[in-house]
Amino acid sequence: MKAAVRYYTKTGNTKKICDAIAEAIGVEAKSVDVPLEEETEVLFLGNSVYAANIDKEVKDFVEANKDKIGCLVNVSSAALLEGTYGRMSKLCGELGVNIDQREFHCKGSFKFMHKGRPNQQDLDEAAAFAKEIMASK
Ligand SMILES: Cc1cc2nc3c(=O)[nH]c(=O)nc-3n(C[C@H](O)[C@H](O)[C@H](O)COP(=O)(O)O)c2cc1C
Repeated sequence: MKAAVRYYTKTGNTKKICDAIAEAIGVEAKSVDVPLEEETEVLFLGNSVYAANIDKEVKDFVEANKDKIGCLVNVSSAALLEGTYGRMSKLCGELGVNIDQREFHCKGSFKFMHKGRPNQQDLDEAAAFAKEIMASK
């Protein structure tokens, strides 16, 4: 498989972003509950910051599917932190998974912060990012 999209979400923000990415590249975004069916050249992995870390379910997904991931492209939202790339990059290093240096990140609404984010502009930028990644592969 050329590309796949998986996400983990607690409040829906990451699903919105990953649905926009999936639509842009013609696949379906699925939750990390769904393992990769086959070797995947490009995996867009949507995740977010919770209590200053990435969720255990996301880490477990990467570990369980590591032999099928050609290249992981990190996609994240957060209220305060500038994304999860550093944490994901560390995890990928530990597991021997190749991670693209490019990432997508935008603000995600949380309680009274960043109401309406991701907004349409964020979703358009996520879609454009995904197309650019696929065009370069
Ligand atoms: C339980 C919880 C803990 C969070 N902790 C942080 C945090 O430590 N730092 C931060 O920048 N954002 C934090 N956030 C904000 C989320 O990263 C942000 O709302 C993100 O867009 C949520 O994505 P989701 O809707 O896909 O779950 C937290 C959100 C939740 C629900």
